[in-house]
Amino acid sequence: MALTYVHRESRRRGPLTREPNIDESAVVQRSHLGEWTAVGARSRIMESTMDDYSYCVDEAIIHYAQIGKFCNIASHACINPGNHPMWRVTLHHATYRRVAYGFDETDDAAFFDWRRSHPVVIGHDVWIGHGATIMPGVTIGNGAVVGSGAVVTKDVPSYTIVAGVPAKPIRERFPREMAEKLERIAWWDWTREQLEERFADFGELESFIEKYAIS
Ligand SMILES: CC(C)(COP(=O)(O)OP(=O)(O)OC[C@H]1O[C@@H](n2cnc3c(N)ncnc32)[C@H](O)[C@@H]1OP(=O)(O)O)[C@@H](O)C(=O)NCCC(=O)NCCS
Repeated sequence: MALTYVHRESRRRGPLTREPNIDESAVVQRSHLGEWTAVGARSRIMESTMDDYSYCVDEAIIHYAQIGKFCNIASHACINPGNHPMWRVTLHHATYRRVAYGFDETDDAAFFDWRRSHPVVIGHDVWIGHGATIMPGVTIGNGAVVGSGAVVTKDVPSYTIVAGVPAKPIRERFPREMAEKLERIAWWDWTREQLEERFADFGELESFIEKYAIS
């Protein structure tokens, strides 16, 4: 019996455009996406910003978050899962999603403001591993890495790799002095023309820092 070779081109792997690249099955509500961004299949982004070149893969959930440039968010990551009102008689969302249940003509705006007041803030060049969860109110510094499956409950300093439940630092990505130099260079703020011109320099850390170091 002859075998049939099936090749299906992924929509996401095609050339990206400067305009946000949002998979047709993803939902993006009241959010701002920068240039060269990409949102994978069945992902949901609500009331968030995701700056230039950042992307999330499939089935990521991102609520009330500010995400910097060049961030890499793996599939099934959950950024800012909403807490329920543990102080109320019932935790059930009928007490704040009142309209859906026919209990009121308006939802509980103050409750949603409370969620909004605990945003997740993610710097630039951050990598969030597969299935990681970043809890409400957490800030993640530039260049940090979150291991797959981690639950991040505390702020993560820049260029620090964290993993586990709850997430703990496992090591620094670079020696602190180098990390500080990279943060001062802030290459993520370079223009497109500068990025194109200097693109080859990204291949080697030490010469990159030496060439672009800002004292
Ligand atoms: C966090 C990560 C980057 C660490 O890589 P690394 O620095 O090479 O770490 P190592 O493999 O040397 O592991 C160091 C220690 O951390 C532990 N560790 C590594 N990743 C872990 C994780 N995700 N959760 C819990 N512990 C982890 C290791 O078991 C090891 O522990 P030990 O010192 O007790 O033996 C990597 O393991 C990871 O999780 N990558 C994410 C992959 C992913 O989700 N990709 C999605 C595609 S975008």
